[in-house]
Amino acid sequence: MAQVIAEVSRTFNEFLLLPNRTRTDCTADTVDLRTPLVRHTAGETAAIELRSPFTSAIMQAVSTPELAIALARNGGLSFLHHNQPIEDQAAAVRQVKNFKAGFVTSDTNVRPDDSLSLLAGAMRRTGHSTAAVTDDGTATGRLLGLVTSRDFHPQRHDLDGPVSGRMTPVAELAHAGADITLSEANARLWDERLDCLPVLDAEGRLQHLVFRSDYADNKRFPHQLVDGAKRLRVGAGINTHDYQERVPALLEAGADVLCFDSSDGYSDWQAQALAWVKKHHPQIPVGGGNVVDGEAFTFLAEAGADFVKVGVGGGSICITRDQKGIGRGQASAVLDVAGARDAFRERTGAYVPICSDGGLVHDYHVALALAMGADFVMMGRYFARFDQAAGAKLPTREGFVKEYWGEGSNRARNWQRYGQGGQGLLFEEGVDGYVPYAGDLDEGLALTVAKLKTTMVSCGSTTLPEFQATARLTLVSDQSFQESHATVTLRDTPATVS
Ligand code: IMP
Repeated sequence: MAQVIAEVSRTFNEFLLLPNRTRTDCTADTVDLRTPLVRHTAGETAAIELRSPFTSAIMQAVSTPELAIALARNGGLSFLHHNQPIEDQAAAVRQVKNFKAGFVTSDTNVRPDDSLSLLAGAMRRTGHSTAAVTDDGTATGRLLGLVTSRDFHPQRHDLDGPVSGRMTPVAELAHAGADITLSEANARLWDERLDCLPVLDAEGRLQHLVFRSDYADNKRFPHQLVDGAKRLRVGAGINTHDYQERVPALLEAGADVLCFDSSDGYSDWQAQALAWVKKHHPQIPVGGGNVVDGEAFTFLAEAGADFVKVGVGGGSICITRDQKGIGRGQASAVLDVAGARDAFRERTGAYVPICSDGGLVHDYHVALALAMGADFVMMGRYFARFDQAAGAKLPTREGFVKEYWGEGSNRARNWQRYGQGGQGLLFEEGVDGYVPYAGDLDEGLALTVAKLKTTMVSCGSTTLPEFQATARLTLVSDQSFQESHATVTLRDTPATVS
């Protein structure tokens, strides 16, 4: 006979945190958001720790290389999606690993015989006022000179004339070799009163440009998530079909951590695939999931998963529950799995972090998920709203929106069906829609982090382990849920509509 779990399946909206005593030395400045990403011996420090407990979803609409760079600079981690050919995903990983803060790949490039009007058009398109003149007009061609918007004027110069007539030739330019560090470059920018320092390889080919402003910009990110060689860290999603080819390519490209991406991770396929990765590439941490209960967590932890993602059917673009009738309220799932993680730690001495994935709609949901025991969160909708995400930004009467679509939607799976000879899709598990546009990730995430720290301070905690150990949660009734919201007419809402 079927087993019916007595406990109701609950979601984050049904809970609130009670404030704990806040001591005088517990302030937002003292809060440390470090958290383990991968399995480690209990009581020790994990080989990879996030500096901030945020990861971006393994989704085409979300985790672009640009978003991965922005998130890692803020202490979190992206998982680049695997719904693309292996070589494309590996190239995306390389793009993140090759990012050097302050070292810009020139995006405004011309040939010496290109016209000044073509150059003016390129500057308008990129919004940048310094262009590299290279032999082949690419960002990595042999550098012949630099030309800036101050070097020519439409009324004073013949715009049909060649760029070479107005550029500063490379022989007259200060430039640096490829091994220069950012602080050395910055020193030269100031000492030699330069605006821009080109970095060239031994053959004189352009590698990067360093601008004064970028050095200051880099100082804004004190919690960057970097590897031993100071390169940003990046994760990559994998699946249980082509992992034997995909994993080596991702490792070769420099991925720091992998994660099996499945809406139902409680399967022999995932355990077999985990065993294969552990056997052939024991050095790379690999996460598993998704699960919604302790039994499934323990199955994956025993199969070798280095962390486990929690959540089935709660995602904002998800229709898994409608289509298949499986899933669990995210709060119940996280609480149950956190209990199993702690029991696993007691039994084996190994700490296997858990990630609350999907269904985080409000900033305070992050605090609730962490208080309930999640070591970090994964979000799709949240990150899809930022400039760095993949979806197009579109104007509507209510303001700008960004496209956001599920990995189980037809839109996401088209590459496989038409390009890669994959199986046809019988039914969708995700929808294709829009989310409100939220600008730049740096600013949006800073606000979320500020709220999280303030919540932790109210709960008397300066670290996430302390927050988890001491948080007190209460269930809310429908009535008290109503009480949580403002009940006056808001000033910017007309009381009467004419
Ligand atoms: P969100 O943060 O609520 O938008 O949820 C994002 C999460 O939803 C992802 O990390 C996945 O676990 C899950 N997800 C992504 N695409 C789909 C889909 O098409 N159907 C169901 N779940 C999805």
